[in-house]
Amino acid sequence: MIYPIVKYGASVLEHKAAPVTAFDAKLARLVEDMFESMYAAHGVGLAAPQIGIPLQLAVIDTTSGADPAARLVLANPEILATEGKQNEEEGCLSLPGFHAVIRRPARVTVRAQNVSGKPFTRTGEALLARAFCHEIDHLHGRLFLAHLSALKRDLIRRKIRKLIKAGDW
Ligand code: NI
Repeated sequence: MIYPIVKYGASVLEHKAAPVTAFDAKLARLVEDMFESMYAAHGVGLAAPQIGIPLQLAVIDTTSGADPAARLVLANPEILATEGKQNEEEGCLSLPGFHAVIRRPARVTVRAQNVSGKPFTRTGEALLARAFCHEIDHLHGRLFLAHLSALKRDLIRRKIRKLIKAGDW
């Protein structure tokens, strides 16, 4: 099932999500639906709050479906270590049409549980490191806007308010 993506303005995007506690068939179904929804929206990462589900759960595939082995499920993820920095343009399915250069670590090690609840650690670089940070931010109620200067953030917010008023958001 393809879920609609929740956009900026929805409160589910601005609150810390609850830990995943049940690693059951329902969770496995949800994870499959999240991959399907992410690919349909042409994203490389999707956090459960972005489909209105306040759980600490995210899916990532930096190959956009080209390599099935690249599919990553992060339940209850946390960042263990970071190294270096990278400045690249970043977007978000919940902020369609908006992009900004965001500084992120160049290398990020996360600890998480997979869809079965098995703990693992994984180190990512470049886009994967960025996706780890971006999706884990979502699970704590943070969007990439939080990393911008107040000036840049307000500019984007004003544009979105106009879109909302015009019924285009
Ligand atoms: Ni996002």
